[in-house]
Amino acid sequence: MWSTAREIAAGDVVIIWQTRDAIIPITISPGGVYNSKFGCYPHDTLIGTLYGSKVHSKSGRGFVHVLRPTPELWTLALPHRTQILYAADIAFIVGWLGVAVGSTVIEAGTGSGSFSHSVARTVGKRGKLYSYEFHEVRAEKAREEFTRHGIDGIITLNHRNVCKDGFTVEDTADSVFLDLPAPWLAIDHAKKALRKDRVARICCFSPCMEQVLRTVTALNTAGFTEITMFETLTRPHDIYQQGSCLSLPTTVGEVGDKLKKAEIRREEKRLKQVAAAKAVWVPKPKEDGEDGDEMQVVKPEAGEDASSGLHAKRKRESDPNKSDDEQTGPSALDAKRVKTEAEIEAEETQQEQAAVDKAKPPMVVSRVLTEVRGHTSYLTFACLVPTHPDAKPMVVFGANSSAEPSTTGTPVG
Ligand SMILES: C[S@@+](CC[C@H](N)C(=O)[O-])C[C@H]1O[C@@H](n2cnc3c(N)ncnc32)[C@H](O)[C@@H]1O
Repeated sequence: MWSTAREIAAGDVVIIWQTRDAIIPITISPGGVYNSKFGCYPHDTLIGTLYGSKVHSKSGRGFVHVLRPTPELWTLALPHRTQILYAADIAFIVGWLGVAVGSTVIEAGTGSGSFSHSVARTVGKRGKLYSYEFHEVRAEKAREEFTRHGIDGIITLNHRNVCKDGFTVEDTADSVFLDLPAPWLAIDHAKKALRKDRVARICCFSPCMEQVLRTVTALNTAGFTEITMFETLTRPHDIYQQGSCLSLPTTVGEVGDKLKKAEIRREEKRLKQVAAAKAVWVPKPKEDGEDGDEMQVVKPEAGEDASSGLHAKRKRESDPNKSDDEQTGPSALDAKRVKTEAEIEAEETQQEQAAVDKAKPPMVVSRVLTEVRGHTSYLTFACLVPTHPDAKPMVVFGANSSAEPSTTGTPVG
């Protein structure tokens, strides 16, 4: 399929992972340059680099990861020519159709080849995928890609309208997958293409319920059984390491300790404020009796209010011409002290948190992503069971229990 070597070589298809939303496939060609807002990367510097490496841009400011393609990465990186299937649907379809190494599978239409790459990997060289696409340009592009990715030996691509002209094989396929606007028009053709010597399976992908109903009716009419419908949804998680953008989860004990400490700090602060309110800061007199630059605390005299009496008196004495704002009095100093306390408190909290984080074992946390790639889709599965000429018709018990015996299995609708 893609290169299996450890190192990147000229001609390799490489996935450039920039961010979760910017994943680009490039083909390495000597002399070529990959440019993006994440920097400039001459292909020659990538040749010989180990797959999976983090590579820095020419300027050293940006970086990308260079990855070996897989069908899953290809689905995220491929050039879109149509709507495509994503991993959740692909995995479910491959599982329910029972696609395995050596299987023969039919798909229509090829579209952007997202589903084709996964199936090609699963069936391998002993298997076969017949892919059909009626849009000529899309068919040609997909053919080029299959050749470049080395899966053209597994996939036979046909430019053909399967609803009108059917498939190119008969009694051959283990399973058929239809991703078409009107799959019900291809169900009789699919029946012809499926093998009849053992249970064969079909899946139709439809984005709306009206299409599902028409498909189910066509499957019933054509004699398919075990008709079942699913809607698949994914819930991807983002993973963060300790010390990255997410803060670590805290235990109940830790929260309790923090609250207790905060309570003690608040009480100490309150007591200091009470003491400060009772005390007055005044200039310390020099030896000659004049006011000095240093300040001192003076307790209010009995019966005197700190904020009015002594404080105001001392202030006027120190410089009667200065306004309250200009005075380097106790209120300004107190404000400075309170601010410093707040800073100290913040620092202490930070230090405590750092100590707690350090004491914890390395931890990885995950968060559910809010945006998910994919679209609503209904997957209708059914089986084609071999009918022996002597087999008795199967009786169907349903809402209409007086119905005639049927050979078509359990109807769904
Ligand atoms: C949604 S896309 C398939 C996407 C594909 N499953 C993937 O994962 O990339 C549907 C494709 O079916 C093709 N198509 C529609 N009607 C068709 C028909 N009657 N015969 C063959 N191809 C058809 C369209 O041209 C289109 O490319």
